[in-house]
Amino acid sequence: MFGKIIGTGSCLPKRRVSNNDLSEFLETNDEWIRERTGIGFRHVLENETPEELAIVAAKNALDAAGMSGEEVDMIVVSTLSSNHMLPSVSCLVQRGIGAEHALCFDLNAACTGFLAAYNTVQAYISMGVIKTGLVIGAEGLSRITEWADRSSCILFGDGAGAAVLREDPSAQFGMIMHADGAKGDALTCEFSYGMENGYPGTVAAVSEEEKRHRTRMQMNGQEVFRFAIRQVPAGIHELLEKEQMEMDSVDWFLLHQANARIIEGAAKRLGAPIEKFPMNLEEYGNTSSASIPILLDEMVREGKIQRGQCLVLAGFGGGLTWGATKVIF
Ligand code: UT7
Repeated sequence: MFGKIIGTGSCLPKRRVSNNDLSEFLETNDEWIRERTGIGFRHVLENETPEELAIVAAKNALDAAGMSGEEVDMIVVSTLSSNHMLPSVSCLVQRGIGAEHALCFDLNAACTGFLAAYNTVQAYISMGVIKTGLVIGAEGLSRITEWADRSSCILFGDGAGAAVLREDPSAQFGMIMHADGAKGDALTCEFSYGMENGYPGTVAAVSEEEKRHRTRMQMNGQEVFRFAIRQVPAGIHELLEKEQMEMDSVDWFLLHQANARIIEGAAKRLGAPIEKFPMNLEEYGNTSSASIPILLDEMVREGKIQRGQCLVLAGFGGGLTWGATKVIF
């Protein structure tokens, strides 16, 4: 047996930054950013933390499901940009929502992370280990963005999204997921704080400049673009074939919100109408593993996604990683 989505939630930081705000300290402009990416705004953390966004998103998802935290058996948080390594964000969410019976861990598959977390919870449900799981994508990318690099910083934003899954005899599940670590240098960020702090005498000193460079996201945009435009449609084709589904039977393709041109290119290659590829990146930019659950929550709350509809969720990004997951809502 698999799990069905019975509630969704999301949370965005209050501070909204426009393209024009960026052009105050960067050589860029609204027209270039909109034309090349489709992005108009992004929300960034001010006094909040990614952990707090995750807790609010989780509470909203539980409210939508009509459940309390006590009924949650498992919490998996996907993140690459939280404030904490210990305790895990999922343990902080557990405390925040009173899910005292839940098993908890975080995972990182970059922008494919929400799918990795969703698939993991489905696996636990299908093994009979749990009945109810909470899947969360929560990011504070503004803390690791290189704000001096106009070719990458214009893309990213912060936010969190969540979904509650409950065991259901009618639930269906299918997935594909891949990685190509050999191309990992296309998008990097190190947690290299430890370099100066290891066992005495074992670590080399690093200049402040080098440290800043390593601890901020560095991206080869064109390489990531080429990868995404090829692998996203290929992954969706692979999923449809594996699940013996027709393209027409999919009501919505919820793609990771990285760049409108990537999403439009994927729709074109798949030969599916662009109207089936909703986007909210104009408002939020790329929020990594939070982008798919934020979009899912918005569409559910707007009544666009209806019970019984077939969704394909598709993620791609750092690693490099990519994947596609079938959801019957
Ligand atoms: O979750 C996955 C995360 N990563 C991605 O999704 C990234 C995928 N890649 C992309 O979205 C695109 O490659 C970018 C939006 C990052 C860049 O767009 P592009 O069409 O590949 O632009 P480009 O890097 O080829 O740059 C074209 C020109 C360059 O000027 P010259 O050399 O032609 O004179 C850049 O210097 O645009 C310039 N440029 C800018 N101009 C104004 C680069 N960034 C900016 C900017 N504003 N922000």
